[in-house]
Amino acid sequence: MLSPTPLSLLCALILCMPLAVIVTITSPTTSTTTTVHDGPETNPVPDFVPATKTHQRLSFKPPPLPPEDDKSLFRVASRVNSRTHPGSPKKIAFLFLTVSPLPFAPLWELYFNQIPKSLFNVYVHADPTHPYETPFSGLFAHRVIHSKPALRFTPTLISAVRRLLARALLHDRSNYMFVLISASCIPIHSFNFTYHTLIGSKKSFIEILDNEIGTFDRWAARGADLMLPEVKLDDFRIGSQFWSLTRKHARLIVGDEIIWAKFNLPCVVWDNCYPEENYFPSLVHMRDPSGVVPATLTHVDWNGSSDGHPRMYVASEVGAELITKLRLDKPRYGDDGTKCSDSSVICRRDPFLFARKLASDSIQRLMSIASEVIFSD
Ligand SMILES: *[C@@H]1O[C@H](CO)[C@@H](O)[C@H](O)[C@H]1NC(C)=O
Ligand SMILES: *[C@@H]1O[C@H](CO)[C@@H](O)[C@H](O)[C@H]1NC(C)=O
Repeated sequence: MLSPTPLSLLCALILCMPLAVIVTITSPTTSTTTTVHDGPETNPVPDFVPATKTHQRLSFKPPPLPPEDDKSLFRVASRVNSRTHPGSPKKIAFLFLTVSPLPFAPLWELYFNQIPKSLFNVYVHADPTHPYETPFSGLFAHRVIHSKPALRFTPTLISAVRRLLARALLHDRSNYMFVLISASCIPIHSFNFTYHTLIGSKKSFIEILDNEIGTFDRWAARGADLMLPEVKLDDFRIGSQFWSLTRKHARLIVGDEIIWAKFNLPCVVWDNCYPEENYFPSLVHMRDPSGVVPATLTHVDWNGSSDGHPRMYVASEVGAELITKLRLDKPRYGDDGTKCSDSSVICRRDPFLFARKLASDSIQRLMSIASEVIFSD
């Protein structure tokens, strides 16, 4: 019998080495993937179960997972019931679009704290090519949907949002309003105030601007006349991508193939390429202009913007005065709305419910004014 000699031990070690190398190379990749993909264990969002009659429960089959390929996902989602469940409370679907951990998660936790779970849902789209050292936890744990890369100046940002809408439509028939939120966005009212404002509206809130400087260049960014014939220059609109949309419009967007095919074309002039600020307002305006209030309820300051980004409030600016100032501001209703001459708007004054962008290190200051200022209406 051979006893292990130093030489045989060395050989065994050398033989094992390639395996060790493979394990080290693959393990980080696997762990990042599982945080964002819907594996059976990590599947964050319980899937939509069609209302079954009692006797059908006897032959229980697990509900199918929502499809991971976008085309099938959007097709299935566009067929959901257009009305919420009669008899159950309507819910707000909060759609978080991010490429980083959520710096204001503690503020959102407080916002949703003590609110019945039956009034809202949370969904997160997290571009898997970015690192998330702090895992999504608490309210955000297991809420990350199957996500894909989402890059500025490309239609992939629109795809990410359509994915959020589709998953939210499929997940819960009580989702009535769908609010898009970014990582640098905060609430500026209590949940209760926001809930009553949004659930009380039959219309979407989405900024829709005509005759903006640069409209033609944005329309032609994919090549001259490439948007024709589906999207004429006259149909083309600009507006903030941060909207609150009704279930009707969420369905409209995930079911749209014709207009999407145009906005999904790559831009040839990238510095005029903000498809997410054009697709949603153009589509909703073309299909259902009377179903919207043409304003966003997410405050933003374009004065002092740079590189296509709006002004970012630094931590030292964040305090009770800022929140008060933002609340007092009046939304811009389409192009004419500030003059109250547009008959579809009739001089409304809707409250801003959210604001962006705030520097992530303002979280301590926000937490210190949360109960007494932000959530006190
Ligand atoms: C919630 O908001 C509604 C409408 O704004 C108001 O009537 C009600 O008193 C609020 N409830 C609480 C607990 O603040
Ligand atoms: C825009 O910002 C500049 C400099 O920060 C300031 O002086 C000006 O008053 C601002 N304009 C508006 C309309 O807020």
